Amino acid sequence: MFAAQRIGRRAFSASARDLSKVTVLGAAGGIGQPLSLLLKLNPNVTELGLYDIRGAPGVAADISHINTKSTVTGYDATPSGLASALKGADIVLIPAGVPRKPGMTRDDLFNTNASIVRDLAKACAENCPEAKVLVIANPVNSTLPILAEVYKARGVYNPKRLFGVTTLDVVRASRFVSELKGTDPAAENVTVVGGHSGVTIVPLFSQSNHPELSSNAELVNRVQFGGDEVVKAKDGAGSATLSMAMAGARMAESLLRASNGEKGVVEPSFVDSPLFKDQGIDYFSSKVELGPGGVEKVLPLGKLDANEEKLLEACLGDLKKNIEKGVAFVAANP
Ligand code: NAD
Ligand code: LMR
Repeated sequence: MFAAQRIGRRAFSASARDLSKVTVLGAAGGIGQPLSLLLKLNPNVTELGLYDIRGAPGVAADISHINTKSTVTGYDATPSGLASALKGADIVLIPAGVPRKPGMTRDDLFNTNASIVRDLAKACAENCPEAKVLVIANPVNSTLPILAEVYKARGVYNPKRLFGVTTLDVVRASRFVSELKGTDPAAENVTVVGGHSGVTIVPLFSQSNHPELSSNAELVNRVQFGGDEVVKAKDGAGSATLSMAMAGARMAESLLRASNGEKGVVEPSFVDSPLFKDQGIDYFSSKVELGPGGVEKVLPLGKLDANEEKLLEACLGDLKKNIEKGVAFVAANP
């Protein structure tokens, strides 16, 4: 028996279409807490479910005092608590997993996070197979394939509904460019493609307001290794949490807007993609048009310049290995 802590009642009327339950798995963590806070501030979220292996009811009690309309429920760390957190969810965000310490790569997190994501994926596939699931836990290049393999094994795989969250790379690129150019970051849209680690992160500055920046190796490197900057500065206390919470909340908000019928909502994200399947790469991050069902359309990559072609080549090699590692993990550890 789980002892859910149900706090607050929906004190407004909303049509069935407007009701959106969003669940955060790993809600008491460094990302989970500010992400939950931002979701509580989002008027498109009507119900917020918070689950963690420790501390979710406390985070829920705290957040529930915020005077926005949504209800907040913190679930106990039990299988039935997890199941209840997921039942009826439209969107599930998964920041559950360990973060890096200085000197580690994201792939070094694989051994711990692969099984966490696999087990949470099983719970999602069982309790909310129709939900859009956004995996934040690293290494994203492998954890999205893990999620997908779990769904495939259970016969509930829909490539339109599963996302690896790469929004932070886009957020960083736009901010770093604005610092360099003295512009408003809101006006700097930089497409970032590939995956979410080191050289698999490929910013396409040639398609931005400042095409010449594609030859700025220092800037390209800063986007590719922006995560390391934060890991180093936190000095053993983890990796990006606050900027990631913002990025995750933005991705969820884009999906909710698309669900509510808004057209032309585009977010780069790591999805089951047709773009490089001919090279054996089933998942790739690129601009994705979102719709009520999740992925509406994977947009074409567009034209790359010679610098970016080189970056892409380096990306594809690593990305393929990262994806295969995730797929092999589920095959060996179903
Ligand atoms: P954290 O350690 O602060 O929080 C993780 C939370 O997950 C903890 O509260 C922990 O109790 C919980 N947890 C662990 N196992 C769980 C399980 N089985 N079920 C539910 N909850 C569980 O870490 P963090 O800083 O929040 O980072 C979380 C993950 O996000 C890391 O893997 C990190 O590398 C990744 N991350 C990804 C991006 C991205 O751009 N995709 C950005 C930043 C961090
Ligand atoms: C990031 O890009 O900040 C995250 O993937 C966390 C990390 O390990 O760098």
